[in-house]
Amino acid sequence: MRDQKARSALLPGEVPVALNQHGAPPWPLAGGGESAVDDLHASARQFITLFHAENHAGPPFQRLWRVHREIEETGTYWHTPEELAFGARAAWRNSTRCIGRPYWHSLEVRDRREVASAPAIAAECTAHLREATNGGQIRPMITVFAPDRPYLPGPRILNSQVVRYAGHETADGAVVGDPANVDVTRLARHLGWPGGRPAARFDVLPLIVEEGGGLAALHELPADAVLEVMIRHPDLAWFAGLGLRWYAVPMISDMYLDIGGVRYPAAPFNGWHVCTEIGSRDLGDASRYDQLRQIAQQLGLAMDPGRRRWKDRAMTELNLAVLHSFTASGVTISDNHPELARLLQHMRREERHDRACPADQTPNLYRHPAPAQLIGLSSRDVSGPVPPGHHHPPPSVADAPLIGVPEGRFME
Ligand code: ARG
Repeated sequence: MRDQKARSALLPGEVPVALNQHGAPPWPLAGGGESAVDDLHASARQFITLFHAENHAGPPFQRLWRVHREIEETGTYWHTPEELAFGARAAWRNSTRCIGRPYWHSLEVRDRREVASAPAIAAECTAHLREATNGGQIRPMITVFAPDRPYLPGPRILNSQVVRYAGHETADGAVVGDPANVDVTRLARHLGWPGGRPAARFDVLPLIVEEGGGLAALHELPADAVLEVMIRHPDLAWFAGLGLRWYAVPMISDMYLDIGGVRYPAAPFNGWHVCTEIGSRDLGDASRYDQLRQIAQQLGLAMDPGRRRWKDRAMTELNLAVLHSFTASGVTISDNHPELARLLQHMRREERHDRACPADQTPNLYRHPAPAQLIGLSSRDVSGPVPPGHHHPPPSVADAPLIGVPEGRFME
């Protein structure tokens, strides 16, 4: 049996972990047995071939043979640093929901596969955040921690992003802060987080790291590692009085990175914000900071419930304020209009290289807040199969070591 074989092929110092909460054996041999290993062989072959072709690394045959043997012996294989770096960049290139893909080449890759303890992982995340912030000139970056291995799950970060604002539930059922983070705030409280008292709207949450199959632990981010921008408007003085702010670096931490069938469950990465992510969604959405009504009131707009034009106007001012504030503070941010034009150019270029470059069909993902015709996006740009090697949504904590997670998202 392969299970037996993998069990006896543990590396020195590795301990087989207990079965997960569903009682299934951990990845990559879960459920599928032979077929999971066959899938791994197939993904590895595809990736190694691509790596050699795109990096002018000569014929792949020797490497393919070594990887094949390593999988047979250990149930997985270890990427070379070059494969890891290329794989992470290709994963960005393949992320169907990301408008920033044209920059995939520029991703800096921090190889931290040997960092194992939760405090060391939290410290590496902080170091990444500082390097990526770079005084406001944001650098796209990824830190890759240990992969899942047979009977040895890698670490996991339970926050959706390294910097997130707490969502505090109040006795009357309201939320102070970001409603998107109510669950993780509750978890932080459960683990003993003393912060956010009294509850404020922009309390930075601690990082919650789970060490390979172990318990989750809290790690506060040093305040000076988190760059934030106060939101003000170029023409409307009252805007600053809304007390809005946002953090500079969106560093996604709950998606796993799949390279050639090897899963890296903790691989936090960042680019920079597009203004509409913050204005239209984070601060504007009714299910998030819900600021449009206040802004419309200040603008003196008639808020006819049947017609929503006031929402469009308030949102346009909010997006303008976000763009202005980041730019004036010297923090990298993109405007959705030129960014979309760049994405479309990139798609044409990829097609010329015979590479699939599909985009997600999620309504308004790239278009918001303008109609598609205005910005030149056609339906042929937003469909197609998903190429292999990309960022996935996290497996839930409960079934973390299982395989077969459905196709995922890159941007919220
Ligand atoms: N939409 C998310 C947010 O506003 C960030 C997702 C990643 N965005 C990015 N520009 N890399 O928090």
